[in-house]
Amino acid sequence: MKNEIEKAVKLLQQVETLAVLTGAGVSAESGIPTFREDEGLWKNFRAEELTTPEAFRKDPAFVWEWYGFRQKKVLECKPNPAHYTLAKMEKHYKKFTLITQNVDNLHRKAGSSHLLELHGNILKARCTSCSMVLDFVLADDPLPQCPQCVSLLRPHIVWFGESLDLNTIDEAFQRAAACDLFITAGTSALVHPAASLPLEAAGHGAALLEINPETTPITPFMTISIRGKAGEVLPLIWEKIINKK
Ligand code: OAD
Repeated sequence: MKNEIEKAVKLLQQVETLAVLTGAGVSAESGIPTFREDEGLWKNFRAEELTTPEAFRKDPAFVWEWYGFRQKKVLECKPNPAHYTLAKMEKHYKKFTLITQNVDNLHRKAGSSHLLELHGNILKARCTSCSMVLDFVLADDPLPQCPQCVSLLRPHIVWFGESLDLNTIDEAFQRAAACDLFITAGTSALVHPAASLPLEAAGHGAALLEINPETTPITPFMTISIRGKAGEVLPLIWEKIINKK
């Protein structure tokens, strides 16, 4: 791993334009439970059965209650060194794009400002009628309503069976195509279109770096693969870059 870290440091010192894709693994060290983990009260329900437009139409109160449970968890958790390192990198590189599949708001909490949230944000909500987006809405009783048209609000999350926001995914692909180095951290790279972003970058000549304790389907395409935790590997690389200056 030491060798791979040195290679990554060298690469990061050479590049000008960087794009990073993060997934649930980056928040694992902050204690954010995944969809598949045992969530006590909710363990008898599969996420796929709750996070769909059909489930919301059938029982919006039940779906909001589940999001309330997840919102509470997210608000209790703090960013970890992976989030903080990525926020520092944003300040260091002039052309830096952070793309995340996470909805937990921890990148923003750590100070990242230019962020493409592919799957939405658990603290946001939008109107089911006029589509107005609100930046901070907690699950509540009675159900959250639109301040503009009084219709029902829904979590601003991409649910199973729904498309990603076109502008956000378009921008992510443009940034991937334009970068010199594309880093993936903490993603199983199983969910598309997010998992296609590193391949788009490679197709345009970018180097690829993966940080994950496990291999993934995109590991064979990597220029450098580091098998480790994002909260340990990213700060280690960053310290070396700062100290060599
Ligand atoms: P997954 O849960 O599929 O994968 C998490 C990845 O993180 C795995 O490859 C782990 O090996 C890795 N991992 C675990 N701990 C880590 C650590 N400390 N540091 C680095 N990596 C670590 O999560 P995603 O790839 O984010 O979509 O899943 C993608 C999408 O699937 C989610 O955004 C969600 C889900 O369906 C929606 O909700 C739309």
